[in-house]
Amino acid sequence: KTIYLKDYQVPDYLIDETHLTFELFEDHSLVHAQLVMRRNPEAGAGLPTLVLDGQQLELLDLKLDDRELGEGDYTLTDSHLSLQPTQERFVLDSSVRIHPESNTALEGLYKSGTMFCTQCEAEGFRKITFYLDRPDVMSKFTTTVSAEQHAYPVLLSNGNPIASGSEEGGRHWATWEDPFKKPAYLFALVAGDLWCVEDSFTTMSNREVALRIYVEPENIDKVQHAMDSLKRSMKWDEEVYGREYDLDIFMIVAVNDFNMGAMENKGLNIFNSSCVLAKAETATDAAHQRVEAVVAHEYFHNWSGNRVTCRDWFQLSLKEGFTVFRDSEFSADTHSRTVKRIEDVAYLRTHQFAEDAGPMAHPVRPDAYMEISNFYTLTIYEKGSEVLRMIHTLLGPELFRKGSDLYFERHDGQAVTCDDFVKAMENASGIDLTQFKRWYTQAGTPRLAVSEAYDAAAQTYSLTFRQSCPATPGQSEKLPFVIPVALGLLDAQGNELPLRLQGESAAQGTDRVLSVTEAEQTFTFEGIAEKPLPSLLRGFSAPVKLQFPYDRDQLMFLMQHDSDGFNRWESGQQLSVQVLQELIGQHQRGEALVLDQRLVAALRTLLEDESLDQAMVAEMLSLPGEAYLTEISDVADVEAIHAAREFARKELSTALFAPLWARYQANRDVSKATPYVAEAAHFARRSLQNIALSYLMLSEKPEVLAACVDQFENADNMTERLSALAVLVNSPFQEEQGKALTMFADFFKDDALVMDQWFSVQAGCPLPGGLERVHALMQHEAFTLKNPNKVRALIGAFANQNLINFHHADGAGYRFLADQVITLNALNPQIASRLLAPLTRWRKYGAARQALMKAELERILASGELSSDVYEVVSKSLA
Ligand code: ARG
Ligand code: ZN
Repeated sequence: KTIYLKDYQVPDYLIDETHLTFELFEDHSLVHAQLVMRRNPEAGAGLPTLVLDGQQLELLDLKLDDRELGEGDYTLTDSHLSLQPTQERFVLDSSVRIHPESNTALEGLYKSGTMFCTQCEAEGFRKITFYLDRPDVMSKFTTTVSAEQHAYPVLLSNGNPIASGSEEGGRHWATWEDPFKKPAYLFALVAGDLWCVEDSFTTMSNREVALRIYVEPENIDKVQHAMDSLKRSMKWDEEVYGREYDLDIFMIVAVNDFNMGAMENKGLNIFNSSCVLAKAETATDAAHQRVEAVVAHEYFHNWSGNRVTCRDWFQLSLKEGFTVFRDSEFSADTHSRTVKRIEDVAYLRTHQFAEDAGPMAHPVRPDAYMEISNFYTLTIYEKGSEVLRMIHTLLGPELFRKGSDLYFERHDGQAVTCDDFVKAMENASGIDLTQFKRWYTQAGTPRLAVSEAYDAAAQTYSLTFRQSCPATPGQSEKLPFVIPVALGLLDAQGNELPLRLQGESAAQGTDRVLSVTEAEQTFTFEGIAEKPLPSLLRGFSAPVKLQFPYDRDQLMFLMQHDSDGFNRWESGQQLSVQVLQELIGQHQRGEALVLDQRLVAALRTLLEDESLDQAMVAEMLSLPGEAYLTEISDVADVEAIHAAREFARKELSTALFAPLWARYQANRDVSKATPYVAEAAHFARRSLQNIALSYLMLSEKPEVLAACVDQFENADNMTERLSALAVLVNSPFQEEQGKALTMFADFFKDDALVMDQWFSVQAGCPLPGGLERVHALMQHEAFTLKNPNKVRALIGAFANQNLINFHHADGAGYRFLADQVITLNALNPQIASRLLAPLTRWRKYGAARQALMKAELERILASGELSSDVYEVVSKSLA
């Protein structure tokens, strides 16, 4: 069943107060709910039937204003409970029995290991009690939790603790009260044997907030990084957005079994343990940065999501796009802005662009869905963040801040829409964003083709922009977007030219933003004494596919001279893409592969310049990945892409051996002499060290192997150890590789998150026999389909990061993935549906692969009863 945005109606009834009591037991749990309700004055006259959401609930008792209701008084289906109120105001009491102990979908109340926890967004609360489970119904909650004292010493819910006590029979209870009205999706409960690290934060108005991070006892040594990140986030949100925390206590709980990254429940964030736990010995630099970013993201939701929430789920990007933008700016301010931008753009272009070109393409504000869980997408999150970034670019930082202040002030305590957000930005800035809003309603990645014309006599230089956007499901025609294009012009010496547009009396700097608003539009710069080289879309100022006919020498020039760090990297990427595409063509024509030596020269220059940011050098050395090369192909040739990229890597490793070895050794020496620090300069050093190592090992020289084994065995941190392991796994040195894998697993067998990395490294190995290795690893005692992190680490890594093996021409990879999806459909529909994404991309491949992939999608469709999650993705992919 499809739900449409155009059908939105305000709720018939409101719930002013929600009083919950949970009695947790090992073989069932009881939930008593007292809802203080009233007719919604905005919904019209009369008393319509009250329709509550409820799934998988065993109704034990129902009372309307103390009147016991019998079977004739209500209607119960597998998704709703309906009854007829007789007054405008009433109190509804219900008791239900639920089974968290057998809930493998990890939605609603469930058990992760021995602890009870919840995940209610988007529609999990209806699996806890009968309720108006929609974000525009906001209520004040009090929650009492009762459980056996010994097994569940810690009992948590949203807000402040107000009472607790013990009961006979070894049980105890605690009551929590949340003074802020909230929708049910922000409800949370945790009960378990947990330890916590405590700290505090003094807010800008001098209120002291207690901070607690709860984990299972064995993880108590991995919490400090998350705590530090939390305090930095709280400070940053005060400084940059003027947002202060509002409760006396802020809690984070780490759970091992969690479908997503984390959840911003009011005052009680629940996190996938992979997004909280980090220490040098067990978590990589990337993991440290992810923990910091997710902690910040969930914290920032307290304002962008909780104080101001979404009217309905079509508005999801209102909170997610905005909050991703906020957390990415926080990371940029905390570490390196350029490197953060490069990472975000590479991710967006590889994965969101692919989604935007596939069968599940949807606008940032979708107008229809079958299963909302399928819409927690790269488009809602990452493209949504790009839309916010463009507003920030168009308004500038001051007006943007004025707009966000107005938004928070105007809508505090409300459930609102993306239109309300844009309206606040317009009102505060005086800038009309009517046309800009097409970014919210039109799906697909716009193309922006740029051509130039230089008139030497008139000393004018013109850039003509032509925008278009491919058709996406349900949208054949697109209207022009507002595309902010940040740019500069370089002269032959690499100097930036003053930019004066026709009609302007003076130049406005050397770096400015043009707004492209028409299908075709020309901008003419005056006073340009020689033909310049344009640096376009600086900082990736809009999420579009830019086309400008640069030749390779021009790209090399920009790599060295562009004042915009992002575009220096981008020029290098474009150069690499051109070179790789040439190799792909050679491979397809059966010719000998010949690497353009200009790429070698460009990378040599970078490697030999020790004044450059090492992270930038590392980013430049990382050739565009196979997934990105797939995305930009019309028809992706899996073998040619792999062969071309591997050939280029091998050639580079030979040609650049000396400078790579020098940089590797110098950085490894610093690593040996320096204790681990999770900061940008150290991330940078290790990233250059490790990418150098991966190139060097292609030489198969004994001194490199020895260095790699030494790094694996003696590193004091997971970043170095895991990189060395990955390089060994991808190498032909069977003996060293086997030894390393065994050593690693023996040492870390009790640390689930480290074992996830051990699985991933092997799942991603491109050497032949990939599927057989994955099959074998699924039998490993540490593997289970019931834990989403394990599924992602092994099966997800195989299907998404091991393209040459997953797309093996015999179709065995596809069959394997479909089998896992069918099994997971019954166990955990959200994970099943996400795992399936690679199969939905069948249009990218040649006829033979298309047929094999479609056959597997058909097989899933015919496999029996499908969850709405899997059904929506499969049926749309085949449509
Ligand atoms: N709101 C969470 C976040 O911060 C995501 C939770 C979504 N969970 C889900 N099962 N759909 O991004
Ligand atoms: Zn979020």
